[in-house]
Amino acid sequence: MGSDRTRDFRVLLVAGARPNFMKVAPILRALDALPGVDPVLIHTGQHYDAEMSRVFLDELDLPEPDINLEVGSDTHARQTARIMMAFEEVLGRLSPDLVVVVGDVNSTLACSIVAQREGVPLAHVEAGLRSGDRSMPEEINRILTDQLADWLYTSCEDVEENLLAEGLDKDRVVFVGNVMIDSLLHQSERARGDDVLDRLHLEEKTFALITLHRPATVDKPGVFGPILGELVSLSERMPVVFPVHPRTRARLDAMAPELPRSERFMILDPMGYHSFLRLTMDARMVITDSGGIQEETTYLGVPCLTVRENTERPVTVTEGTNSLVGLDPARLRDGIESIVTGSTKKGRKPKGWDGQAALRIAEHFRETYLS
Ligand code: UD1
Repeated sequence: MGSDRTRDFRVLLVAGARPNFMKVAPILRALDALPGVDPVLIHTGQHYDAEMSRVFLDELDLPEPDINLEVGSDTHARQTARIMMAFEEVLGRLSPDLVVVVGDVNSTLACSIVAQREGVPLAHVEAGLRSGDRSMPEEINRILTDQLADWLYTSCEDVEENLLAEGLDKDRVVFVGNVMIDSLLHQSERARGDDVLDRLHLEEKTFALITLHRPATVDKPGVFGPILGELVSLSERMPVVFPVHPRTRARLDAMAPELPRSERFMILDPMGYHSFLRLTMDARMVITDSGGIQEETTYLGVPCLTVRENTERPVTVTEGTNSLVGLDPARLRDGIESIVTGSTKKGRKPKGWDGQAALRIAEHFRETYLS
């Protein structure tokens, strides 16, 4: 936020939680290259542990955020409220011309409500994704953010119908492609050079990579226990690498302190972007309940089993390498079996997943506000 640019078109770009950083990085780069724009990076502090935040800023070449709201963890209501209060003060102080939010985390919704109330135009990147599952906080965050946004930047063409079905105006919907794939492409060379396989004594395409962190998957021992049992069985066939989110770590410590921890069943701390991307590229299969990883595996052509009953990213199933196996361990076992026996989906890369999405967003800003 250079003082020499204070009269330029000021854009506040919001990031708060781990999956936001890879989305804001290419947008910030594209805005930085746009003459007459003053981009300001705001970190809400929803995620704050070094391995959930700092490592991503560093590895994605993000600058130190101009402002960190330092809200930290709390209940949904309190966390959202704290972000709103702090962001309202920032809006008042910086008088931006536009606020850009990404994804579907609590920071996304909180800042959207404040921008709308303060009359600042709002753009939502990754608009229109819907799982149809309102028990997920992310689904409510998506629906409400899209209702508030002036610009709905979509990552897949098929999601426009979700927005139109909710009464949103077609003129606000702009298909730009997938900014997360922009980051993947931008960083893929550095990821290929990461030595994580050597560090973990792994060979390419011989191991399974696991990420599970959603409350629906990990919070109930009756659900998580049988899934863990399948992963332990899988580790008898191939090494299992499981970098765990802090929430999952707490659940594992409480319910499965006796889990085998060995070279074949590796429970690890959360990983940085490059190491995790390298593992994803070279995994035999990925088992996840994350949203973004469904997209990354589709782009990379790596088989993915999603341990959820639904997905807000159906294109990864219809066009990509993703299969939904739900929370039933028998379906997970069948999914693993089909990958091990070689009957995997080939998949193709969806349209607009080409490394240019952020440039298309910047171009739309230029046409709309700067020409
Ligand atoms: C959030 C997002 C979720 C996203 C996930 C990725 C919402 C509603 N959910 O979930 O969509 O997939 O991030 O990671 O916004 N914690 C730490 N250190 C941190 C951050 C969190 O220890 O840096 C622990 C705290 O105990 C905290 C818990 O993790 O209470 C949950 O964090 P929170 O930000 O509330 O949600 P996530 O589960 O991370």
